[in-house]
Amino acid sequence: MGPTAAPREVHDLEHERFLEEVHSFEFWFHSVEGYLSGTTFGHNPAVVDDTPGAEADRQRLITVLSNYCLGEMAALEGASGLIAIAPNQLTKIFLSTQVADEGRHLEVLLHRMRELGVAAPAAEAERRASRGLKQFRTELLKLVQGRDWEAAIFAQNVILESLEFAVFKAHAEVADPVTKQVLEGVIKDERRHIGFGENELGRRLRGAPHIRTRLARVREELDHLVIGMLEDTSREIGVEPARQTELARSYRQCVERLGFA
Ligand SMILES: [Fe+2]
Ligand SMILES: [Fe+2]
Repeated sequence: MGPTAAPREVHDLEHERFLEEVHSFEFWFHSVEGYLSGTTFGHNPAVVDDTPGAEADRQRLITVLSNYCLGEMAALEGASGLIAIAPNQLTKIFLSTQVADEGRHLEVLLHRMRELGVAAPAAEAERRASRGLKQFRTELLKLVQGRDWEAAIFAQNVILESLEFAVFKAHAEVADPVTKQVLEGVIKDERRHIGFGENELGRRLRGAPHIRTRLARVREELDHLVIGMLEDTSREIGVEPARQTELARSYRQCVERLGFA
């Protein structure tokens, strides 16, 4: 080992240890305990359910939640499939925490639909969810089945998660108190998932520029599907046009942090 090589290696080792810590079950447990302990189906049971009174508003909320459920279902199936092709223990362990998160997200959102009077929420979610999102789910699972680790992580932990993060955040600002609390808990998990995607891909992109070309193509194929969902959902939850533009920008910024212009 040459004298100049040592500091960089020490730095790499420190970074490894940092990732090992933040991607562990230990870290996950302490994080979720902080915001989920004492909640029932993702919200404080003492919060009064101020569900939209007007039927049209209730229906709009059910449609929006249906899309969220489809997104969570895609992430649950994607993350669980990715464990089998993950390149090392660290990524397998992190993905297993993500599977737990996505399963919980699906559960609390289906439960919220039931609270809104939907008798069979899973079937209703499938029925109402947008075609674009369903197609996104199919494409994501194809990448997982094709064992395309970088492309699947990009589609799931960058594209899908960034979309969810932006939309849930905007929705939480205008939602009824129960939906707001449910979404705020979900957002905290999604932030962790995006962090994993950025770390995992950031390092790989630095080492292998051809991956960038591959991911740019994946982005081209999938971007319009999630942008369509972002626009539809923004309209349904009553987001002002100016805020909609801001939302699309916030989504794009997440993707662009990895160097995709
Ligand atoms: Fe999720
Ligand atoms: Fe997620």
